[in-house]
Amino acid sequence: MKKMKVNPYNVNGDINYDKLISEFGIKPIDKNILKRIEAITGEIHPYLRRGIFFAHRDLEKVLDAYEKGEKFFLYTGTGPSGPIHLGHYSVWSFVKWLQDKFDVELWFQFTDDEKFLYKDMTYEEIQEWTKENMLDVIAMGFNPNKTHFLIDTKHAGIIYPEAIKVAKKITFSTLKSAFGFTDSNNIGSIFYTAMQTVPCFLPNILNNENKYCLIPMGVDQDPHFRISRDVVEKLGHKKPSIIHAKFMSPLTGVTGKSSSSNYDKTILMTDDAKTVAKKINKYSFSGGKDTIEEHREKGGNIEVDVACQWLKYFEHNDEKLSEIYDKYSKGELLSGEVKKILIDKINNELSEHQRRRMNAEGMIDRFIFKN
Ligand code: TRP
Repeated sequence: MKKMKVNPYNVNGDINYDKLISEFGIKPIDKNILKRIEAITGEIHPYLRRGIFFAHRDLEKVLDAYEKGEKFFLYTGTGPSGPIHLGHYSVWSFVKWLQDKFDVELWFQFTDDEKFLYKDMTYEEIQEWTKENMLDVIAMGFNPNKTHFLIDTKHAGIIYPEAIKVAKKITFSTLKSAFGFTDSNNIGSIFYTAMQTVPCFLPNILNNENKYCLIPMGVDQDPHFRISRDVVEKLGHKKPSIIHAKFMSPLTGVTGKSSSSNYDKTILMTDDAKTVAKKINKYSFSGGKDTIEEHREKGGNIEVDVACQWLKYFEHNDEKLSEIYDKYSKGELLSGEVKKILIDKINNELSEHQRRRMNAEGMIDRFIFKN
């Protein structure tokens, strides 16, 4: 078994989320929190029920304030160095749910600086991905009146003065131990954590407010904020709260993280229906038995079957999901049949997304934050 490694620049090995909770010092989302969310929103999102969003930092504080009538703002982001895939999409569809249910502002950061510094790509290539990624974020259906894009190099004028205040309070040795940096890292990459920290308090500076910030994100991003939450407080701002998502697995197996660096084995938001079917049929790891006879007799393994696991993201109805699991475990459903169910579900959502994406370009300007 490969040693587990989870940080913003490296996700490796078999991921044990319980271990991650104790290593990171984050808290599991418990029944009590779910109840409080349900009392406010009227429902528990399937990703909460199913433990896809599984942990948090200080989520109680955001809920305490909200119950007293005080709104928070949401903050999340993406690093534009490739196409958006279902892993991003699932996290953002939950962000959209939060925005709709709590009726709050969303600040969305595009870290073109980060990707330029970390990837072997030109500045121009990164700018192209920034635009492409913006189309997908808009296609998610976020409320244009309540969603504000920050693009690091374009909004540097408002971000940088705050970023230096953050940077001054973080040492290189702290970053070395959190991210495994060495002396050969470029100096921009060392500064970058400061840029990702700023949006968790910048809206308060701009609006002269003191709201809580809630950051929904993949758990790999936690080390940035583990470092900077204390710094933020020292600078006189509220510590941001965080809600952490597990990784959507790659098609090829239930461990690891979906990534856009291998286009073939992840499903991209721009894939057409045929491509989706082809990728899933070809690459999705099966928990089925070698022959139909054996499968009918012994049943399949839902834990390792990627199509079964991905259905947690796309079949929102609990009864239907457990019926599929039940039949698959008993051998009544074959791997190919589960794949077919998944393919149809995904293609439904993608065709909606792609329709909205076609109209997104004309909306970019509305979403970009104007001071
Ligand atoms: N660093 C993130 C990435 O590479 C992008 C990002 C910026 C982000 N700010 C964030 C992600 C806040 C989650 C929450 O994708």
